[in-house]
Amino acid sequence: EKGTYDHYMLKEINDQPAAMRKIIQEYQDEAGNLKIDSSIIEQLNNSDRIYIIAAGTSYHAGLIGKEFFEKWAGVPTEVHVASEFVYNTPLLSEKPLFIFISQSGETADSRAVLVDIKKRGHKSLTVTNVPGSTLSREADETLILHAGPEIAVASTKAYTAQIAVLSILAQVAARELGRDTGIELMKELAKVTTAITAIIEDAPKIEAIVKDYLETSRNAFFIGRTLDYYVGLEGALKLKEISYIQAEGFAGGELKHGTIALIEEGTPVFALTTQEKVNLNIRGNAQEVAARGANVCTVSMEGLDQEGDAYVIPRVHSSLTALVSVVVYQFVSYYAALHRGNDVDKPRNLAKSVTVE
Ligand code: M6R
Repeated sequence: EKGTYDHYMLKEINDQPAAMRKIIQEYQDEAGNLKIDSSIIEQLNNSDRIYIIAAGTSYHAGLIGKEFFEKWAGVPTEVHVASEFVYNTPLLSEKPLFIFISQSGETADSRAVLVDIKKRGHKSLTVTNVPGSTLSREADETLILHAGPEIAVASTKAYTAQIAVLSILAQVAARELGRDTGIELMKELAKVTTAITAIIEDAPKIEAIVKDYLETSRNAFFIGRTLDYYVGLEGALKLKEISYIQAEGFAGGELKHGTIALIEEGTPVFALTTQEKVNLNIRGNAQEVAARGANVCTVSMEGLDQEGDAYVIPRVHSSLTALVSVVVYQFVSYYAALHRGNDVDKPRNLAKSVTVE
């Protein structure tokens, strides 16, 4: 039930701290150790490469997941859009593990891949919010998101839950491989929870940002580098699907190779910077578009912030910033859709789960 909230989407954005706490609780044993079924650990131990298969927002969560598997566990990881993978399958490693990420567990594109890889005899793990869903039943193993039902078509809490669960899985993989990641993950996720809560309390400030940057625009860009680029892809998708503003997520450095031609006087550009090693680069890219008239809205993180930034998120572990920065973009798209009088929870042309290929 959406209770006192005007929309399911708003409720589900607000559900995120509770969902994070639930995940922390569900994936920890009494001694405080990370807890993943031994059969899943075995799958990880027996694979030489991970293939993440997903669509839409779940694909964007997979892009963040790749960071955890590669940086922490040292396991090569590829992330693929399901609808492409099935008809354009890359050369596979000897012992692939397929991870299907799907909020609903019903996405036909992902299922088509699952059916195909099962025929080839490969192992599969589904990460889903819906126990008993098709992808959960048909895969060898399942990890549950514990985010609670997600009703709004625009996915919010499932994305953050997917990233959190993938981080736990990767941390366990690292542990199994005897690699010290130097991260106390559950503590860091608790910090993330506090940071998300702070942003939720700041919603009126983000509504004001929407008034400043998006009220009359027909298009918008989301730029970032590394993890912030992936969050930009998600920000753009969210904005498109419920506000109908044409939006594009872009790697900051790639903009000047063509797309910058689209920048006009007043074009909104959201620039996200939470990664120290590319902070100056992305700020440079923001200046390039500002010099061509763009209305740049910079979202940064404590410690990397500068005067003039429109919003500064609380500081969290550098690998986990997506869990926090995305909440700013969730509110941006919510208010942009609301101000346009759109049906926030049921945008045109879309269904909650896409059950045709
Ligand atoms: O249920 P799934 O996670 O498999 O759904 C995948 C996409 O259809 C879904 O994430 C879609 O992109 C959302 N509407 C985005 O908000």
